Amino acid sequence: MGVALLSLFRLFVLSFITLGLIPQQALASITRHYKFDIQLQNVTRLCHTKSIVTVNGQFPGPRIVAREGDRLLIKVVNHVQNNISIHWHGIRQLRTGWADGPAYITQCPIQTGSSYVYNFTIVGQRGTLWWHAHISWLRSTIYGPLIILPKRGVPYPFTKPYKEVPIIFGEWWNADPEAVINQALQTGGGPNVSDAYTINGLPGPLYNCSAKDTFKLRVEAGKTYLLRLINAALNDELFFSIANHTLKVVETDALYVKPFETNTILITPGQTTNVLLKTKPNFPNATFFMAARPYVTGLGTFDNSTLAGILEYETTTLHSTLSMNKLPLHKPILPALNDTSFATKFASKLRSLNTPQFPANVPQKVDKRLFFTIGLGTNPCSHNNQTCQGPTNRTMFAASINNVSFTMPNTALLQSHFFGQSNGVYSPDFPISPLIPFNYTGAQLNNTNVGNGTKLMVLPFNTSVELVLQDTSILGAESHPLHLHGFNFFVVGQGFGNFDENDDPKKFNLIDPVERNTVGVPSGGWVAIRFLADNPGVWFMHCHLEIHTSWGLKMAWVVLDGKLPNQKLIPPPLDLPRC
Ligand code: C2O
Repeated sequence: MGVALLSLFRLFVLSFITLGLIPQQALASITRHYKFDIQLQNVTRLCHTKSIVTVNGQFPGPRIVAREGDRLLIKVVNHVQNNISIHWHGIRQLRTGWADGPAYITQCPIQTGSSYVYNFTIVGQRGTLWWHAHISWLRSTIYGPLIILPKRGVPYPFTKPYKEVPIIFGEWWNADPEAVINQALQTGGGPNVSDAYTINGLPGPLYNCSAKDTFKLRVEAGKTYLLRLINAALNDELFFSIANHTLKVVETDALYVKPFETNTILITPGQTTNVLLKTKPNFPNATFFMAARPYVTGLGTFDNSTLAGILEYETTTLHSTLSMNKLPLHKPILPALNDTSFATKFASKLRSLNTPQFPANVPQKVDKRLFFTIGLGTNPCSHNNQTCQGPTNRTMFAASINNVSFTMPNTALLQSHFFGQSNGVYSPDFPISPLIPFNYTGAQLNNTNVGNGTKLMVLPFNTSVELVLQDTSILGAESHPLHLHGFNFFVVGQGFGNFDENDDPKKFNLIDPVERNTVGVPSGGWVAIRFLADNPGVWFMHCHLEIHTSWGLKMAWVVLDGKLPNQKLIPPPLDLPRC
């Protein structure tokens, strides 16, 4: 049946081509092939050598470069013992949910010795995105940039950069991150933290035994560079700054924004930010640290170290490496680790570019209003007569949305949905608001237990959704970077304390709110987002702090097919991994 449908679909596309309905520009689109061999590789950082899971032996992984409108065929071959799946973070995957990648949501994992070809087309998107493993904590070493250039001949809406540099932040663990998360889930306690932050895989000179592993950005004076910043860290939002230089923010999550200048940016795991760096007009006789350290609001332990790379100017007067080393080195001043007021100010500066060419199509009417609380909680200790290491020795850490801590199914949700076999896999009754309202940001509750289940929210095709994400103070208020697969959304409002459904909507920005795929929910506050559910499939939504996802801060949406043929999920490819 799948094959018959597939050829029907081909016929449909063919008839479009023969009828001349495909615009000229689309014809310039090409298919790009990549091969990802998942393999072990020995890597040394901080004087620790270990075997890590990589793509093609590279750490960070290879760069994918395409143009808007291109089709990507990425063959992933699994040569390691771990199960694997790869997610193309921020790609809309219009009707191609089978290529989205989160394990047990849109596909079963690729098993040892097997392969899967991710097949999707980049429609109406250009900018910086990234890809990463989407199973357990394997994304700690399996990640890389995904760069979408505008269509040929289409300029950026800002100064044409002299050069473009992807800069991807990560975390380095001397321990095996898989062992770290397995142990945390076993004991119910908080996980061990990373040993360093990295910039393009390198921790830099502020760590022991690390000076030789320093990222250097060599620039020429008087030029404009486009830095494509990506936060691939597992559990930490990051501040980033370059000493004595300003950054001009021009894009977030592959969507253009109204440009603004800043000394420091804040970037949560999952987010990307393009900035223009204008170098000094003349050789400055100095070098500059580019540094990052975390923004932390929770109560748990965290890696409080600082990474540094070096911005170095090229010079015509023959400075030897030796004399370069003698130049004064400037260091940036980063905000305090808990500087929430910086976070708030930074978020409020982000606005959609909103020009005729790049309009902000904010949904003006709302079909469905939803209110989700997000935060931590507990489950009872699962070891009978023993103790756990949660907030008390009788409890284990958990996290939830509307008090539902998400239980991962052991088959893929998209498959169950498409073949009408959801019975016993998931229930379509995710609550539209908390079953028992309480003072979300008030005093500590006596009972912190969560409910557990695989509940999904079902939306008819083209539903216009307004969703308020409300942080709770259960076991400590905390900023949560919430990521939605399959869509971009508009951030129409945010604030502190409990959301007020009478007053707060009056202040919503429905003109030029920033559009993105991952938003930091303010610590002890709320954010309101709007999106149009125009992409049929099953779409994951979760906190991009990996420990919170592991604890259950995740859920999924089912967006039903529309009536027209081009509003339906396409059938699964034949090589889709099954469980
Ligand atoms: Cu970048 Cu579901 O993740």
